[in-house]
Amino acid sequence: MSGLLSKLFKVSGRRKGERLFCSAIILAAGRGERMRGRNKLFAEIDGEPVLVHTLRAFELCPEVDEIIVVARPEEIGNIGVLISDYGFSKVSKVVRGGEKRQDSVYIGLMEASPKSQLAAIHDAARPLVTQKVISETIKAAAQFNAAAPGVPVKDTVKVVKSGEVANTPDRATLYAIQTPQVFKTDIIKAALTDVLRTKAEVTDDCMAVEKLGLTVKITHGDYENIKITTPSDLIVTDAILRERSVYET
Ligand code: CTP
Ligand code: MG
Repeated sequence: MSGLLSKLFKVSGRRKGERLFCSAIILAAGRGERMRGRNKLFAEIDGEPVLVHTLRAFELCPEVDEIIVVARPEEIGNIGVLISDYGFSKVSKVVRGGEKRQDSVYIGLMEASPKSQLAAIHDAARPLVTQKVISETIKAAAQFNAAAPGVPVKDTVKVVKSGEVANTPDRATLYAIQTPQVFKTDIIKAALTDVLRTKAEVTDDCMAVEKLGLTVKITHGDYENIKITTPSDLIVTDAILRERSVYET
């Protein structure tokens, strides 16, 4: 990071292991259009709603201090009931999301506690995230300012133009990036404010930070940390959870 940026964000000189106040922003305000009519966040996997699995992962994580859920307005009531039924004590707010994912992220960030030093932004549609992935990414962001879990891509990826292969990037350099993406709270707030002001197109939260010229540390992701997008993803996540519970008991 440049000297100017580090002064701006007072982020230089963090030591490994330093414990910072972490706000988890759980994004649950999407329309789930690719699920063709099923509400993916309330669909049950291994007997419980997807959103419950996601919230439990953050509730149980010792590095997380508060949870903010960003939701569709018509679902705020149901989510409130679910939070009290399951006793998720770290959830401080359930707020109404925005039109695009990045709008929902911004709204969630603005609701974070004034004590917030780190923001862990996570898709509610990734219920299989593990404690290891969450903790490692939060610790990396505490040390390096920005971190995200990634897994090496398994397929060969090609750049295609007009139906023809334009080139084949070296697969060894390609990673699929997951969530939670974790940042110093002041950095991601500044980065997203810039994105919204300039109407820049970003496909994930890291990209907003990359645009400021900052580097993002990649932590060990998990191939099972899939995002439920289409109906078959529900079948896969359900099967993985059932397999996990066999090994846990
Ligand atoms: N999300 C959000 N606010 C939006 C759009 C998305 O909080 N305006 C959340 C979704 O609820 C989801 C996550 O961002 O947990 C990732 O988005 P995606 O998988 O694309 O979910 P949806 O947008 O709901 O699905 P689709 O794109 O198929 O409509
Ligand atoms: Mg979407």
